[in-house]
Amino acid sequence: MTALRYAFTFVAALLAFGCGQRKFTEPYKLAGNKSVDVKTLNDGQDAFMLYCYACHGEKGDGMGPASVGMRPPPRNFTRGLFKFAGVEAGKLPTDEALDRTIRRGLYGTPMLPWDVPVIERKDIIPYLKTLSPRWQSEEEYGTPIEISPDPWVGKSGPALERGKQVYHVAVGGAGCSGCHPAYATRAEISQMTQKATGEPVAEFAEGMYQSMLRESEYPLSYDDKGEMAKAYQILPVDFLTQKIKTAPPLGTVPTRDQCSPSHSAGTATASPASGPATAMSNSEFRSRVGARMLMMAPSVPNRNGGGTGMKNGSVTGAR
Ligand code: HEC
Ligand code: HEC
Repeated sequence: MTALRYAFTFVAALLAFGCGQRKFTEPYKLAGNKSVDVKTLNDGQDAFMLYCYACHGEKGDGMGPASVGMRPPPRNFTRGLFKFAGVEAGKLPTDEALDRTIRRGLYGTPMLPWDVPVIERKDIIPYLKTLSPRWQSEEEYGTPIEISPDPWVGKSGPALERGKQVYHVAVGGAGCSGCHPAYATRAEISQMTQKATGEPVAEFAEGMYQSMLRESEYPLSYDDKGEMAKAYQILPVDFLTQKIKTAPPLGTVPTRDQCSPSHSAGTATASPASGPATAMSNSEFRSRVGARMLMMAPSVPNRNGGGTGMKNGSVTGAR
């Protein structure tokens, strides 16, 4: 450990004790008869105060001293709502998903790929679970989403066709272009819709080829009654020009998994549980749309290429 790290740890410890911060004296109970031992909790809290507190806040409410005006705002862990969770929408994330977010960060946001040693990540993750009571209820846990083997190997033509339809048509598809920009001509979309519904498209939305800000469920401020007064506005990604937050590390090619619709929203996104509106299985759907998106991306999204984490603020509807 370097002298600097010692100094940081010391300051963090001072902060932790100095502010009358509660130190754990007994194990913390989680769902499924699991519990976290006292040492892990205290070490986790120390590590959280060292690496995460500045943004996510002492209580984990996203109101750390560095969070003022930060867009997107740091996640409020006391709500227990997660976006990059590796499970169905609205459920609690897997430990792997949390670890991945900490290791890789969220590209283009202030959530950088923090260089937190494995051993401290192992303590931080259980500590995060003490910040919201959701983690104590078994029903709130999600089942990890499994990706099926690629059914389109060697069939990229038909895969693209199907992906285009799933993306642009809501009936019998997913209608991703309801929020994200459209990438097909109006004639094509009308034709695909007619095929699925028997009716052509009567009217197209103005600005269908652009991404437009949407109101998210993430409060920026509250009124007297504690209700949301102002929501964070968020921009759905334009896949032709913007990099995605869950981009893979530099120098690696994204897997289909990384290219599939990754937001399990209902949380901070304005996005629905964008799952299939059809009888298609979730994984089949994901692999199709994922394949299509791989083709759309002009380049492999990479990280660390963009200087500061704030640089792509516009990606996420900042300012
Ligand atoms: C410089 C500020 C900053 C620091 C330091 C920071 N974060 Fe974040 N974090 C953010 C922001 C901003 C977001 C929201 C990004 C978004 O919504 O796109 C975020 C999001 C997250 C998420 C995503 C939750 C989800 O919805 O899936 C997790 C998990 C997370 N942070 C954990 C941590 C942990 C653990 C640490 C300490 C090791 C940490 N963060 C340090 C700013 C920070
Ligand atoms: C209701 C609006 C809405 C719909 C419908 C929607 N999305 Fe999104 N999507 C969003 C928003 C908003 C974001 C930005 C989330 C963020 O930056 O945190 C986003 C982000 C994404 C991302 C980037 C995730 C990352 O790692 O940064 C992908 C990939 C994506 N959407 C794919 C899809 C696909 C595929 C569909 C159709 C199956 C779809 N979306 C449907 C609103 C939507």
